[in-house]
Amino acid sequence: MKQLRTSQQATRYNAQMVRLPLTMSEKKTLTMRARRNSESGDWSEKRVVHPERESKDMNKNVSQLRTKQASRNYTFKQLKRGILITVEGIDGCGKTTFIKELSSRLNKEFKLTITKEPGDSALGVYLRQILQEQPVSITSKAEYLLFAADRAQHATEIIEPALKKNFIVISDRMGDSSVVYQGFARGLGTHMINQINIWAMNGIKPDIIFHLKLDPQKAVERIQNRNEKLTAFEKEKKDFMHKVAAGYDTWFADKKHVVTLDAEKDTVSMANEAYAYILSWIETHE
Ligand code: TYD
Repeated sequence: MKQLRTSQQATRYNAQMVRLPLTMSEKKTLTMRARRNSESGDWSEKRVVHPERESKDMNKNVSQLRTKQASRNYTFKQLKRGILITVEGIDGCGKTTFIKELSSRLNKEFKLTITKEPGDSALGVYLRQILQEQPVSITSKAEYLLFAADRAQHATEIIEPALKKNFIVISDRMGDSSVVYQGFARGLGTHMINQINIWAMNGIKPDIIFHLKLDPQKAVERIQNRNEKLTAFEKEKKDFMHKVAAGYDTWFADKKHVVTLDAEKDTVSMANEAYAYILSWIETHE
């Protein structure tokens, strides 16, 4: 296992998607890092991040943002309460770059936590691997319940503490992904999933949902052009992605706190639009 610690080997290790449990020494390092952050009063990073996850692009971007925010002398606006924002959309719609762009605007003014489902809690790292790889056959109900387990852990470990500190929390996916992917596209129905989601989240609901809407055909093309290893969901037939897109349209049709953004636009325009919306939301709700 020691051999896997160099970055080159860690990349190969990731590409094969074989993940091993943390060693004692990794656990020790992570605990020390968490303690150090907590002692230094670094607001942004009190949670433990799996070492391999830190090597992923999104996490690199996120941790860079956190470091920048913690090290600069911004005068943060104090919110009276935390705000939960989720970003939803079909695979390939551009959520990751959108969140990065939006965060770079928000993080100069507000204390921010950026997170994602599945996989941003310590338990979630393991659940994410099972869900994305599906190394054994998983029924649709079991698949949903694994996402729900990740959600319950995520809510308690990451979302609630950040909201209690009156941060803006941006989550890349949340319960609505399950309603759409498992409820609509896998055919499990929405009622039970919605109920379990509420329970898993301890009743916390997003204040704002940004729906990045993209034609499924275009999304499939983007995914193919990425030239990356596909997740179990990205390997699904095109028909599945059409069901997901239709599911989002139906589920969000009558929801007032959903802001639909045209994901064919460039990321900067989408982020500007979302940023302006958040500022006006804060003005009317503070
Ligand atoms: P990820 O690599 O995070 O993809 P993306 O960047 O598109 O979010 O993989 C997450 C996959 O899991 C994605 O295909 C959507 C799917 N998913 C569900 O099916 N149900 C869920 O509840 C969630 C949160 C994600």
